[in-house]
Amino acid sequence: MSNVYGVVLAGGIGARMGNIEKPKQFLELGGKPVIIHTIEKFAIHPGLTEVLVLAPRAWMTYTQDIIRKHISGGTKITVLEGGTSRNETIMNAVRYIEKQGNLNEDTLIVTHDSVRPFVTHRIIEENIRFAGEYGACDTVIPASDTIVESKSQEKITDIPNRKYMYQGQTPQSFRAVELKEAYEALSEAEKAILTDACKIMVLRGKHVHLVQGEVFNIKITYPYDVAVAKALLGMELD
Ligand code: CTP
Repeated sequence: MSNVYGVVLAGGIGARMGNIEKPKQFLELGGKPVIIHTIEKFAIHPGLTEVLVLAPRAWMTYTQDIIRKHISGGTKITVLEGGTSRNETIMNAVRYIEKQGNLNEDTLIVTHDSVRPFVTHRIIEENIRFAGEYGACDTVIPASDTIVESKSQEKITDIPNRKYMYQGQTPQSFRAVELKEAYEALSEAEKAILTDACKIMVLRGKHVHLVQGEVFNIKITYPYDVAVAKALLGMELD
């Protein structure tokens, strides 16, 4: 059986959340930090070998402490240092797997935003399946609003057919070796532009399969999203 790693991305500082005392992944949501809700979904999934949690260096001990406090049993969880960008954070996870001697053609990574606590068992399941089958997959929902493109940020340049438009969520899952090769082939300038890991694979001509997400699999970005997340907590999801 191949190694499948859950990779919980928590290396960001949440600047768009405004002036808060800690990065948004550590905000309390229904009695426990957002990131704990997220990690729990991965820790109880039977298809994962290990869960890697990548946090800013200054928050690594704190992350370990809250995991110890809230989570017992389940899959092994390891806290690692995040990187300077989201993709660098993913690469830190891949480097760790390589150092362990576990990076081979079959190794899969299911990368997920720590600030999407409503990911479901089904979404994780399908990510593992399609990444294994196709090499890469991305979780999406059909765009509900019409997408308007403006390259000048003043005048409309295109309005693509909504039927073909989706909103990207996470997880995004990959054969780790293939993502590593694709990322390392990029120049520094390309790395700065290609902030979406799936896009790197698409530009390489790789098949990136779609996984059906959920409207409620929201990303907590702004204070508004915290209010929405609190409302969602009270609903029966999955
Ligand atoms: N992330 C990461 N490493 C980075 C930057 C971001 O692991 N160097 C993670 C964030 O912690 C978050 C996810 O990627 O879970 C999605 O990114 P985003 O919502 O943009 O988070 P932040 O970068 O923290 O937010 P902001 O852009 O408002 O600063």
